[in-house]
Amino acid sequence: MKGAAQQMLTDTVSSAVTGAEFEIENFRVSDEDLPEFKDLKFENINELHIDHPGANDAGYRARRDYIASCAKSFRETGVITDVEYNAREQRVWRYVAEELEELQQKYASPFYLRAKKDLGIRTDQIPQLSEMNRRLKELTGFRLAPIEGLVETRGFLSWLSYRVMLCTQYIRHHSQPAYTPEPDIVHEAIGHIPMFTNPNFADFSQFIGHGARIANDKQLEELGRLYWFTVEFGLVEHEGSIKAYGAGLLSSFGELEHAFSDKVERRPFDLETVINHEYTYSDMQPILYVIPSYAELKEVTRRYIESFNC
Ligand SMILES: [Fe+2]
Repeated sequence: MKGAAQQMLTDTVSSAVTGAEFEIENFRVSDEDLPEFKDLKFENINELHIDHPGANDAGYRARRDYIASCAKSFRETGVITDVEYNAREQRVWRYVAEELEELQQKYASPFYLRAKKDLGIRTDQIPQLSEMNRRLKELTGFRLAPIEGLVETRGFLSWLSYRVMLCTQYIRHHSQPAYTPEPDIVHEAIGHIPMFTNPNFADFSQFIGHGARIANDKQLEELGRLYWFTVEFGLVEHEGSIKAYGAGLLSSFGELEHAFSDKVERRPFDLETVINHEYTYSDMQPILYVIPSYAELKEVTRRYIESFNC
């Protein structure tokens, strides 16, 4: 999954959510404190690039456009539209979800595996954002907001400050079920969403969001690296062994197997090192970082974001 990497590549400021006053301890965000989704400003986010496996498939493009229209209508109404996925889309999900499930039993963090069950994410059917959103809100006050494609870094990360994750609803092209050049419902639901049920991980994500709202361009780049080596490609210690919790690992067979192969050096997490670690998003990562716990990651990140105010 390389799509989230692209999310990290741009750093123009265009979000309506930047610049507001906020408390770093503001863990819960009430409905009244949430910015209007219709104020989100995006450009060309539902464009399908020419090298996308579905670029020349008119039927696939039409489905994507329809699902994009659901995300657009969310910004007007605030209501998540359930997508009626067709049989072909469900087959893509079943194939990927079943393969990943097997690999995850071996490599995924036990917290993640339990969370996936708790959220009702199954291998036989594509889950709806509306239902996962309802459960998340109860558990950690996190919300999901449908979006029709990639968003620039600051805009995307800033929504985490409100405990909101922007999520795509469309699914990858059936010709290459193991691959997607951009986030899709597999990456969101199997990769990202379960971890937001962890209170420490949810708070940590919110701190990243806070940081994105006040970061200068250099700090934003650093935050992008922190996000990459944790939220996307993070490893965590568990009872003497190492497990995966990063969405880019958990939603890709290739990445997950690679992370535990002898081609990868798994280093203890060090914030200073991570924020200065320049990576190539299109390559498999030769170095990954292992956090001691989600609580530790949260506290280190809190101190780091607080230093932005100095
Ligand atoms: Fe991602």
